[in-house]
Amino acid sequence: MKIGIIGAGGMAKALAGKWRNAHQVMLSGRDLDKTKHAADEVGAAHGTAAEAAAFGDVVVLATRWQDVFSGIESAGGAEAFAGKVVIDINNPVDVETFVTTRTDGRSLTEAIADALPGAHVGKAFNMAQVAVWEDQDMSYDGRQMVVLFTADDGAAQVISDLISDVGAEPLRLGSNAHAYQLEAAAAIVIKFLFAGRDPKTIFNFIQPDVKPVN
Ligand SMILES: NC(=O)c1ccc[n+]([C@@H]2O[C@H](COP(=O)([O-])OP(=O)(O)OC[C@H]3O[C@@H](n4cnc5c(N)ncnc54)[C@H](OP(=O)(O)O)[C@@H]3O)[C@@H](O)[C@H]2O)c1
Repeated sequence: MKIGIIGAGGMAKALAGKWRNAHQVMLSGRDLDKTKHAADEVGAAHGTAAEAAAFGDVVVLATRWQDVFSGIESAGGAEAFAGKVVIDINNPVDVETFVTTRTDGRSLTEAIADALPGAHVGKAFNMAQVAVWEDQDMSYDGRQMVVLFTADDGAAQVISDLISDVGAEPLRLGSNAHAYQLEAAAAIVIKFLFAGRDPKTIFNFIQPDVKPVN
């Protein structure tokens, strides 16, 4: 499968590193020298956002959440995503208050789906910190990591397969109507991370002595 990634930061590199053996992957960014450097590190191709969107059967939105819609515009707008599976990995979370920045009760994922009516959209990979996605082995405390995701019916199988391909176990919560809950749960995970918790203990609560922070 061909996977275009809008973004060439930590998450883009970590996921590309996982997928590059089984798939063709292209990273993209606004600064092409920086993008090439990132892509070379993980053995992926590089290009502009428009090139990555054109390249991918699957397009991963991996800018910061504030840049998601400018990234979509850089890629060529809705037409560039028509017929493709789009994976939203972004956490619209205010890192001072640790609450979602979505104020209308609808998720970023649903807003992306509204903006890309010809695409098949889902949300995945948002619940663990980048250090986890960089791990070679997705098994923790003897258990395979479970990755929660939401998706419309056209995206569900592809996203499930790509989660398996990173070495984790996919678990679909349902349609993107549940993406708001995933984003809100990520706010809690991020609060623990900012409080100094080990990234590899939070996402599936395997460390028995993790306590809520005030
Ligand atoms: N970091 C984590 O632990 C983690 C975990 C789960 C989910 N997430 C989510 O994943 C997303 C990415 O996080 P990250 O840590 O990978 O961010 P990051 O390291 O800051 O990378 C963001 C990338 O987006 C690119 N970019 C920004 N605007 C763009 C545009 N208009 N067109 C093309 N590329 C653009 C940037 O490159 P240029 O500046 O060259 O354009 C940069 O390579 C965030 O929304 C975050 O909520 C992060």
